[in-house]
Amino acid sequence: MMLLNHAVVQLIQRSRRDGLRSTAALVGKNLPRPLYEWLIHRRVRAHEQFDLKYRVDTQMPVRLHELEMSAPGARFAIRYEGTPIAVLHKIIRRLKVDRRRFTFIDLGSGKGRVLLIAAQYPFKSVIGIEFSNKLHNIALNNIEKFAVLGFTKTTLTSINCDAGEFDFSHIGDKIIFCYNPFGADLMNRVLDNLLLPPHRQEETIFIYLGPMPPAVSEKLTPFQIIAKGEFLSEFGFFERYSIHQIQ
Ligand SMILES: C[S@@+](CC[C@H](N)C(=O)[O-])C[C@H]1O[C@@H](n2cnc3c(N)ncnc32)[C@H](O)[C@@H]1O
Repeated sequence: MMLLNHAVVQLIQRSRRDGLRSTAALVGKNLPRPLYEWLIHRRVRAHEQFDLKYRVDTQMPVRLHELEMSAPGARFAIRYEGTPIAVLHKIIRRLKVDRRRFTFIDLGSGKGRVLLIAAQYPFKSVIGIEFSNKLHNIALNNIEKFAVLGFTKTTLTSINCDAGEFDFSHIGDKIIFCYNPFGADLMNRVLDNLLLPPHRQEETIFIYLGPMPPAVSEKLTPFQIIAKGEFLSEFGFFERYSIHQIQ
């Protein structure tokens, strides 16, 4: 009883201090284990249903050694696993921008799940950049099947290219989305590319999901955080996301 009272007092104090969103996260983190397991199972099931419904292949993770390890991009790569669909919808809805002005870019787009979801919003366009030819081909197949159903509100494409080689200079206003795609050295190189040239009047929003390497977090320190949050991954642990205004 004492413990319960303490938890309630903690919740009230936190909700006063940090607002409802943070309180919800605290409640979520204190759920009993079976409830977590049920939530995770429900999420996995929803993803499987998505794949079945649209006849696409986005759910099954792909281990790194199954990808083209000889490609230069493989050096810093992290395995393929798709962003949770509900989390992505929530993040996109948190962006208070005129979507028609922005190109949405998924860096390390894998099988293209993020592209299929983002294209349901009226962005200027949606682009995925994926170093693995194998995953890129799966993404092209998924895009073809999904786009034909008429759910997309913009053009979407997957580009087979190393994120470190991609030229952002012609894109204009952009939202860069990253779900734990590669290590800090490459991420900081990409950030350097994104921030060039500094005099441009373009807007760049940078979204990062997953454990952010300290070197990346340091590089982002000067930039305003628009929003941040946490979500329960399919693998049973809480992951963070943050949205930064970098230009
Ligand atoms: C965790 S998965 C995320 C997939 C996708 N963004 C999603 O959320 O559904 C990371 C992806 O980044 C890709 N990747 C890793 N290094 C890369 C690089 N240098 N250039 C482009 N893609 C890369 C991996 O192959 C993998 O598909």
